[in-house]
Amino acid sequence: MILGIETSCDETAAALVTDEGQLLASVVSSQADLHARYGGVVPEVASRRHLDLVSPVIREALGSAGASLDRVEKIAVTRGPGLVGALLVGLSAAKAIAWAGRLPLAPVDHLDGHIASLYLEPDPLEPPFLCLLASGGHTLLLAVRERGTSERLGTTLDDAAGEAFDKGARLLGLGYPGGAEIDRIAQGGDSSAFPFPIARVPGLDFSFSGLKTALLYRVRELGEDEAKRRRADLAASYQRAIVRALAQRVEAAVSATGFDRVAVVGGVAANSELRAALPAARFAPLDLCTDNAAMIASAARYVEALPYPDYLGLDAYASLS
Ligand code: KG4
Ligand code: ZN
Repeated sequence: MILGIETSCDETAAALVTDEGQLLASVVSSQADLHARYGGVVPEVASRRHLDLVSPVIREALGSAGASLDRVEKIAVTRGPGLVGALLVGLSAAKAIAWAGRLPLAPVDHLDGHIASLYLEPDPLEPPFLCLLASGGHTLLLAVRERGTSERLGTTLDDAAGEAFDKGARLLGLGYPGGAEIDRIAQGGDSSAFPFPIARVPGLDFSFSGLKTALLYRVRELGEDEAKRRRADLAASYQRAIVRALAQRVEAAVSATGFDRVAVVGGVAANSELRAALPAARFAPLDLCTDNAAMIASAARYVEALPYPDYLGLDAYASLS
């Protein structure tokens, strides 16, 4: 049994997964309410909350699997990318538990984790496939030829897709994080009401900062009251522009690479319009799109674990290198 721990941003999460990829327990404690009043994640506040939550969340995962720590054979933990202070809380907890039990520790890259959300039972996906990873921190097109590795084909030149959702939500006076909120409000709006631009970027890269600026100008033009009244139309039109940009790039990547299967992972994979726009694609299960530890434990199955006690000096990393 693998115990996974994830604390890279504002979710404190622990999960238990077997070597075969059976998910035994997954607990996610979101700090979203805590950060909402600031309109985004405050790193220091996140670290402190992870400190409070990491032990109870791990205990809850063990409890819900009906297991004790002595049944755990390997510890998996997110080492990066993410907020370094937040990552260090999970990494330290993982080291302590692994060291105390003389267990091996597998350091997992958060992005490999998102991809590995596709590898869990009962319906694991087998490579090769083209993967769109769209989250709050990243927008990547990846060629996945075997489990545990991927090759980057495209990335965002500025904002990530989830970031575009969050910034748009903020401009529309919706809460943080805004993706799910835009998704919900857009259902009652007219997506052709406002013609928002889709960036023309060469190759297989993305760009979302122009779109965000277009929304800003449109909201200013309309004025506060009118923007509020047309909020559903604005949200629907804005969401459509993001979804179209993502879907068009996926289609271009399929033509360029010849992959016959497409998978979508990361927080934005929860978006209902994106799911509808790519009907043939395989999406991560809804509860495993946003950050969780089940995907981290799953990814650890394809990572070489460090034996006891070689991991004590491991450090976290903030960004992709
Ligand atoms: O994967 P994730 O939990 O964290 C990162 O690794 O960044 O992704 C979080 C992002 C946030 O930007 C959030 O607004 C977005 O995923 N998100 C959504 C939806 N649910 C979450 N975006 C669009 N539609 C949704 N339903
Ligand atoms: Zn993530």
